[in-house]
Amino acid sequence: METTWVELERQARAWIVEAGDAIKQALHRPFHIDAKSGPNDLVTDVDKSTESFFYDNIVATYPTHHFLGEEGIADRLDTLDGIVWIIDPIDGTMNFVHQKRNFAISVGIYENGKGKVGLVYDVMSGELFHAIEGVGFFINDRKQSPAKGNELAQSVIGINGNWLVKDNLPIQPDLVDIAKTCRGTRSYGSAALEMAYVASGLLDAYISPKLSPWDYAGGAVLLQEAGCKTTRFNGEALSLLERGSIVAAKPSLHETLVSTYLHKGEST
Ligand code: IPD
Ligand code: CA
Ligand code: CA
Ligand code: CA
Repeated sequence: METTWVELERQARAWIVEAGDAIKQALHRPFHIDAKSGPNDLVTDVDKSTESFFYDNIVATYPTHHFLGEEGIADRLDTLDGIVWIIDPIDGTMNFVHQKRNFAISVGIYENGKGKVGLVYDVMSGELFHAIEGVGFFINDRKQSPAKGNELAQSVIGINGNWLVKDNLPIQPDLVDIAKTCRGTRSYGSAALEMAYVASGLLDAYISPKLSPWDYAGGAVLLQEAGCKTTRFNGEALSLLERGSIVAAKPSLHETLVSTYLHKGEST
């Protein structure tokens, strides 16, 4: 019998909770920290072992499914055909290393490029955000009704302050204008959690000029089922194979952000 999306969500959640328990255990002993693209781009052995845990379980349980993860445990993927699990084993590694909190496991399950299941698990608080296409968006299994949208002037926007002070970003003036116009900005250090907060109505929007598919694959399904819109800065659909910009918000605020502040920023 064919596995349903509800069953896949249950299985993904069981692995997420098991992986979360292992991550919490790992915080009690020393772990190895490396830098990847630069001194502030951190990775630990816990990121890698968590990704391996998902990969091994998925391959053994669903041999026809495909896998895309940040730490490159699986081969590079160049098509979204079939069922693809897109996983960030620890989203917010800097928080994991420095704060031992405010990091998440993010899982998105896609069929031929369409978001079917999304899960974002705040490991230390135990809060689980999940969504299934056509079923809805849930926080700790409580179904959420779509939050009311706010105007930009009454909005709290998730954006990393580093982007506001970066030189030579063509989009910088627009981001600064957003920060000047909105009610306030917040930066939590985990894109997946910030997208879950937009879906929950805790943030009105989340904006980042550069993210990778594993950062947003899980969150994008939450947002879709919460009635929010998630695109590139120019309003185009996200790619799940290439990195780029992201803006997530309720439709009316999304429209304002894209048409007034972001669309001219960059091609993606
Ligand atoms: C990072 C986090 C962070 C975002 C970075 C991401 P990682 O993911 O989501 O909030 O600003 O761009 O790379 O590396 O901790 O999985
Ligand atoms: Ca990383
Ligand atoms: Ca990430
Ligand atoms: Ca990560």
